[in-house]
Amino acid sequence: MLLVTGGCGFIGSNFIHLLRRERPDLEILNLDLLTYAGNLENLAALEGDEKLQFVKGDIADSRFVENLFETKDIDQIVHFAAESHVDRSILGPGIFIRSNIQGTQVLLEAARKNWSEGEGRFVMVSTDEVYGSLGPTGLFREDTPLDPSSPYSASKASADLICQSYFRTFGFPVVNTRCSNNYGPYQFPEKLIPLIILRAGRDESLPVYGDGLNIRDWIHVEDHCRGILAVLDGGELGKVYNIGSDNERTNIEIIRLILDNLGKSEDLIEFVKDRPGHDRRYAMDSTFIEQSLGWRPEVDFSEGIAATIKWYRDNPEWLERVISGAYKEYYSRQYGSK
Ligand SMILES: NC(=O)c1ccc[n+]([C@@H]2O[C@H](COP(=O)([O-])OP(=O)(O)OC[C@H]3O[C@@H](n4cnc5c(N)ncnc54)[C@H](O)[C@@H]3O)[C@@H](O)[C@H]2O)c1
Repeated sequence: MLLVTGGCGFIGSNFIHLLRRERPDLEILNLDLLTYAGNLENLAALEGDEKLQFVKGDIADSRFVENLFETKDIDQIVHFAAESHVDRSILGPGIFIRSNIQGTQVLLEAARKNWSEGEGRFVMVSTDEVYGSLGPTGLFREDTPLDPSSPYSASKASADLICQSYFRTFGFPVVNTRCSNNYGPYQFPEKLIPLIILRAGRDESLPVYGDGLNIRDWIHVEDHCRGILAVLDGGELGKVYNIGSDNERTNIEIIRLILDNLGKSEDLIEFVKDRPGHDRRYAMDSTFIEQSLGWRPEVDFSEGIAATIKWYRDNPEWLERVISGAYKEYYSRQYGSK
């Protein structure tokens, strides 16, 4: 059985949808704490799927996680669960240390205790943010030293390194992926793209950090999920795989593109004080995964972003339920007081 942690979040839920299309017979256990970012409604289309189980719980709760391993036949893990928003990590780093670092170690330890030699596979979903900031040229490679800037990226870098230490020290079967900025459906509207779509749709001002010229490499979530699946299937244990899309865009370019698509005025843009420790540029070299596993990004950015904007516009009730908090009721309706 494949344990997916954080399967109710943005990327985790897209990954489960992809798995269902590609692996209809795979037994999946989705473990998610349903924090503010966890939305079980992201998987509502899979309701009644007998091969998909959901369990609500905290990856940092060792007793709970150990019990889960004793009662379920888990032989693979894709680990998404994390606090994921940089701004929140600046306001309150503590929960990032607990969920992202301690939670990862609890999972590693439970798997290590339960898997015999030669058994199991753990995919750690890490991020390009662990590398810190690039100057105007150059790319992050897997051997670029980690140099994280925010409590979020530092917590991910710690978890990433702890995973590697488990491989080197215990021969534990772990593979790390480091992906660039994702966009696509089901993303919580605190992140740039859904936030801008939402606010522009309501003719609200669009806050842009600093000069808006920070550069990210934007990848469609579907491409990221296919990359993770390729690593789950064939990644070499102990290795790190960068996953990027060769698609560098400034924040302001993304915002203008969305405004143009929505037919809204650029007057909505409002430059605000920069985020402390704001990384200037991220860019990825994905040669390793391309050459060794044959993975390549497939979604063209202009098509992907247009489809993403359309998805948020076509699903106003999803957005409204997230904003009003009504999405939280779905869990009690499905699972009662369990
Ligand atoms: N979003 C990106 O662009 C991006 C890029 C590269 C890597 N990543 C990584 O991918 C993973 C998923 O990112 P996302 O954007 O989907 O995040 P998200 O915030 O949308 O989802 C995170 C999920 O984890 C769950 N969770 C949080 N703490 C938990 C805990 N203690 N126990 C169990 N579940 C918990 C939440 O309820 C939520 O469902 C993260 O590890 C993130 O660092 C994200």
